[in-house]
This record gives sequence, C-alpha cells and structure tokens, in this order.
Amino acid sequence: MKFYSDVLGLIGNTPLVKVNHITKKHKIKAQVLAKMESLNPGYSVKDRIGISMIDWAEKEGVLKKGGTIIEATSGNTGIGLALTAAVRGYKCIFILTDKVSVEKMRYLKSLGADIVVCPAAAKHGTPDHYVETAKRISHETPGSFYPDQYNHPANPAAHYATTGPEIWRDTEGKITHFVSGIGTGGTITGTGRYLKEQNPKIKIIGADPYGSIFKQYKDSGRVPEATPYLVEGIGQSLPVGNADMKTIDEIINITDRESFEFARELSRREGIFCGGSTGTNFAAAIKVAKDLDDTAVVVFIVCDTGEHYLSKFHSDEWMKEKLLLEPKRITAGLINETKNSGAPESLIFVSPDEVVSAAIQLMNDSGVTQIPVLEENRSVGSLRESHILARLLKDRELLNSKVSEVMDKGFPVVEMDTSVTEIKTKLQKSPAVLIEDFKRITGIITRSDVLELER
Ligand SMILES: Cc1ncc(COP(=O)(O)O)c(C=O)c1O
Repeated sequence: MKFYSDVLGLIGNTPLVKVNHITKKHKIKAQVLAKMESLNPGYSVKDRIGISMIDWAEKEGVLKKGGTIIEATSGNTGIGLALTAAVRGYKCIFILTDKVSVEKMRYLKSLGADIVVCPAAAKHGTPDHYVETAKRISHETPGSFYPDQYNHPANPAAHYATTGPEIWRDTEGKITHFVSGIGTGGTITGTGRYLKEQNPKIKIIGADPYGSIFKQYKDSGRVPEATPYLVEGIGQSLPVGNADMKTIDEIINITDRESFEFARELSRREGIFCGGSTGTNFAAAIKVAKDLDDTAVVVFIVCDTGEHYLSKFHSDEWMKEKLLLEPKRITAGLINETKNSGAPESLIFVSPDEVVSAAIQLMNDSGVTQIPVLEENRSVGSLRESHILARLLKDRELLNSKVSEVMDKGFPVVEMDTSVTEIKTKLQKSPAVLIEDFKRITGIITRSDVLELER
C-alpha cells in the first residue's frame, strides 16, 4: 500500500511552476519559476520550520510529552507548529496581531490551538506587543516551549537543509536569482546560504514592503522608522536575528498596491492562488527578470495560499475600501453594492405621472438634488432640482403639473460591468448615471459616489 504514516510526510518537496502569460506580457526572456510552498499540508512555507523547531526542542529535551508550544506568529508559523503539535500531541497557544486575517485565526483554532490577539499598532518592546506578550505567557506557562522563530537556528536550518537543495536539484543548478520576502528571514537566509555555497554567483534578492526597515537597513546600516503597510507576514520594524543581511545581495521595495495586484494577477492569469507576500516576491522577481536574458532562471517563493485572504485582498470590496482596486475592476455594480458603507439602499425615483410638488417633496425628504423618472423600470427622464426651481420662479403653477411635463432627458444608462473610467467620462456631462441589469434600472451613481472612491 502507498501512504504517508502521517500528514507531516507531506511537508516539503514542493514543485517549481513556470510563469507564462505574465512574463510574456512584460516581454521577459528569463525563466521565472514559482516555488509552490502553498502546496505544503498547512498551505505555507512555514510548515518546514514548524516541524524543524519542534524536532529541535524534542531532541534538546525542552519539549516533553503534554507540553505547550507558545509562539508569536503572523499565522503561518502557528499553522506549521500546530500541524506537528496535532500529530505529536502537544498543546499550542499563538499570539497574533489584529492585522492577521480571520481565515488564519479560524484555521489555527481548527487545528486545536488557542489564540491571543494583540494590537498591531503596539510598539516593539512594549507589554502589548505580540512578541512581548508571547514571552510573558511562555514564562507563566509550566512545561512550555517558546520557539522564537525570529532567532531560532532551526528556522534557517530547515531551509538550508530542504528548500535550498530542492531548488538546486529541480533547476539542475541553473538558478541564477532567488527572490524571497523577509519576515523572520529564515527562508531567505537558509535557502540563500545553501544556494550561494553551491554557486556564489547566484543573486539572493529580498522583497520588502514599503514601510518595513529591511531595504534601508541593508543599504545604509541605519534602522529607519517603520510605517504601516497591509501585506501580512513579511517586513519588520526592527532587525531580527534570522535575517542575515550578508546573505542578501539586494533588497527591493514593493508597494501594497503592487503586491496585491501581482498576487491577484498570478491567480487570474496563471492559476497560482497565493497570498499577498507572494505578490511582493513576484513583483520583485518581475522587476529583476526584466533586465535579464534567456539564460537566467529566477525562482521566487509562493509563501502561502490565497485561501487565507479571501476576506482581504482577494475581495474586490476590501480592495476598493482600501483604495487599491485597479480602475478597470471598479465597475458600476461594485460601486453600487459598496456605496453608503455597504448599506444596501433602494433606488429613489418618480414616475412620469407623479405631480411635481410630490416629486420635489420626495427629493427634499431623501436629500437628493436629482432623481430619475422611471416607467416600468425603464428610464424616461430626470428631474434636476436647479432646473425645476428656476422654472418655478417663473411659473408657480408648474407645481401642480405632471412630472412628464417638466422633466429633463434621462440620465445616461450603464451596464453593471462598466468601468469607473467610463462612468467618470459620462459624469462630466451628466450629474448621475443609471445602472441597468437585465433591462431593469437597478441603481444610480452620482458624482459624489465617484469622488468618494478617491477620498
Ligand atoms: C505569509 C508569509 N509570507 C512570508 C513569510 C516570510 O518568511 P520568513 O519568516 O522565512 O522570512 C511569512 C513569515 O511569517 C509569512 O507568514
């Protein structure tokens, strides 16, 4: 019979997958290969260090039967540790920040772990910071093992022993550039050291979110003030023990927008469904590969799966909320669905047979200055407050007329999938556009709704 004796046998030996469409679009001659760490049993690169740090603790006698593993994690290391802990019967308590996606939190709980959530805004060294909280809980818990992935040698050692050799083997020694994010630094340090030992010419490239310190730290030796960014799992506000700057040749800064766009494009165009830090790595890999010829082989890490971020950057609503969605993906349907902070609102309209006074009353009550005139769900005209008031000044009797006698022409009509760029052009001439879905008018977009997108 062919089977693994437990799920831990599935860790590592992840394949390389060639990127095709996106490299072609960027006219890249080099081969760009994705190292599919999302195919580990816990769906991230961190499964490798979960088992290696626990192996170390068992060997050193630090972790004994029934012991508790306590770690500060952005989620994936927790998942990696929890997998091994589940198989070997340990308890787990993980300390996370409130930046971690709800998917990862639920996943950790499903694996049997307890979680403690700290504010992401807490400064390093203060009692509320998630690393300080993890240290405190581990001091207070008898029989606990606090791996400290930021400094534990078994973290880079796992990558030196497995990730590096796998890439060397699978590229038949042809790799020229290795691109990885830097969270604890374990992946880039361990893999980079191994690859450089095989061929010192291989370039080790770090991908770092704008806001993190690593690029400036590497380039100048100084630690700048960190600023917030949205990508999870990589970047730091202080140097960490496992991020060895000497192993890294160059660090490239990537914006949140680039990270999420590249991650979304990898899913859409190549079917590689991944997290935001993979987008950071891929964006850096593309920047590097643009200047290389067809003998170059660029390998980047697919750190984890997109499943962890379905409520975050893989959702158009979340991207729009963060003002990060590409304009061509901001459609009439999405604007309508998410305006007024997502509260659904029924379309306010009048019929052509309504009397003008009632229509004005409705506009006043609803706080709108323009209103569509609809008949059997089709647009037949519009009322604009400034036009009617001007006409009423001349002829008050119009108050008793029918709307059809005073109305202006209807607002332009767009489809659900019309892009914001096209809508903006129409709004230069008209104060509003109507949205049509299956031949029914279902919504209205005004100039202020579009301005709201660029707040
Ligand atoms: C999603 C994600 N990507 C990348 C990394 C970075 O890996 P490393 O800690 O080995 O630098 C992490 C680490 O926490 C992560 O959670």
